[in-house]
Amino acid sequence: LSTAIAANFLAAIPALAAEVSDDHTSIWSRQQAEKVALTKETTAPPVDLDFKLVAPDQWVWDTWPLQNRDGSLATVKGYRIAFALVAPRSLGWGERHTQASIGMFYSKNGKDWTYAGIPYNKDKALGHMQWAGTAMLDEKGKVHLFYTATGDKNNWDESRWAQTAEQRIAKTTFDIGADKDGVHLTNEGEHQIILEADGNYYETIEQFKGNIITAFRDPFFFQDPNTGKEYIIFEGQAGGDYSLKPENIGDEEYRKTHSVPAGAELYNGNIGIAEVLDHDITKLKLLPPLLESVGANHQMERPHVVVNGDDYYLFTISHTFTYAPGLTGPDGVYGFVGKGLRSDYKPMNGSGLVIGNPAENGYQAYSWMVLPNQQVISFINEPKDENGEVKFGGTFSSTLKVNLEGDKSEITKEGKQGEIKPFGPNR
Ligand code: FRU
Repeated sequence: LSTAIAANFLAAIPALAAEVSDDHTSIWSRQQAEKVALTKETTAPPVDLDFKLVAPDQWVWDTWPLQNRDGSLATVKGYRIAFALVAPRSLGWGERHTQASIGMFYSKNGKDWTYAGIPYNKDKALGHMQWAGTAMLDEKGKVHLFYTATGDKNNWDESRWAQTAEQRIAKTTFDIGADKDGVHLTNEGEHQIILEADGNYYETIEQFKGNIITAFRDPFFFQDPNTGKEYIIFEGQAGGDYSLKPENIGDEEYRKTHSVPAGAELYNGNIGIAEVLDHDITKLKLLPPLLESVGANHQMERPHVVVNGDDYYLFTISHTFTYAPGLTGPDGVYGFVGKGLRSDYKPMNGSGLVIGNPAENGYQAYSWMVLPNQQVISFINEPKDENGEVKFGGTFSSTLKVNLEGDKSEITKEGKQGEIKPFGPNR
């Protein structure tokens, strides 16, 4: 078989052609990110300014539903359960990040949610604040809550918060019960650190060069339906001696004419991954990142995976202000599609953009999470009214539905605030 024939033969078998090495890191390049532009398929509908507060005395932002080990949405005695970052509304809107805790919510109909408070003991929890994560209900009925332990409790300096906001990935467990009075988490386990930045694949706070904030956060538990292997996927930064490689810029043709503005190399976002080695998800092994946006965007926040047939969709949220110099795009959820968890990811819609805030209301919502049934939840952020006045949200936004078709997507439906319907597969 000549190499040319062999290459043709391989190209005809998508599963084989898509195979990459175990340490392959895909790239979201400047060339791809430059194509980001809102279209009718990707522009979010306007947020209703007449929104209701899901927890009237709390700011509520990053939200995630309780998922079964296989990723499907969990129900417990007919209740849906969700977790979200919360902080007292008596604090300023901007102060909430450094006072964040994780709150629990439950709902019988998937539309009307009850806020049940912080389910853990703040003194036992790790970190000065607890940032985003995910929650998994295992086959024995244990809830595993994965979160980001941010800042050292004993050495927290609010005035230098970006410099002291060290992030480590933590977990705890609970038993869960439900009765006519709602859902209860009991028997809180130990809180333990399960992952820390290694300074090689992933930047440590000591290596942080001062651009915005460093990241080692937002754990997402994922069981690969095709291999049964389990992983934690998270937001990181390229570590130690990373460099801006030619491929971070674009292909050869593009590189002939594109000059990279100074400072772009400080934007070193990546999507990290660790393999789970034990059944209780306490032993993990850091692996090279799945994707990096070095030179293109500093933050690939809250990464998560949805598998649709043999397509793996890797989603992440990002901001306008975290694009590297010379590039821009909306606050939105971005997606990449491949034929396996470790693959040569292609940006959705040619650029990566899946849902973006409309240009005239660029901060109306944030922190989208695409659920396995392609419903997309998010929170109301800073929408502007018709006079241009900002109204702080801090509550669940309307649920959207996206259609995923290969590397194309389209927003197709809008539901109620915080609605999680049992429609579609993987309910
Ligand atoms: C996204 C995010 C997360 C982080 C949290 C902190 O909205 O920046 O990455 O866990 O908010 O408030």
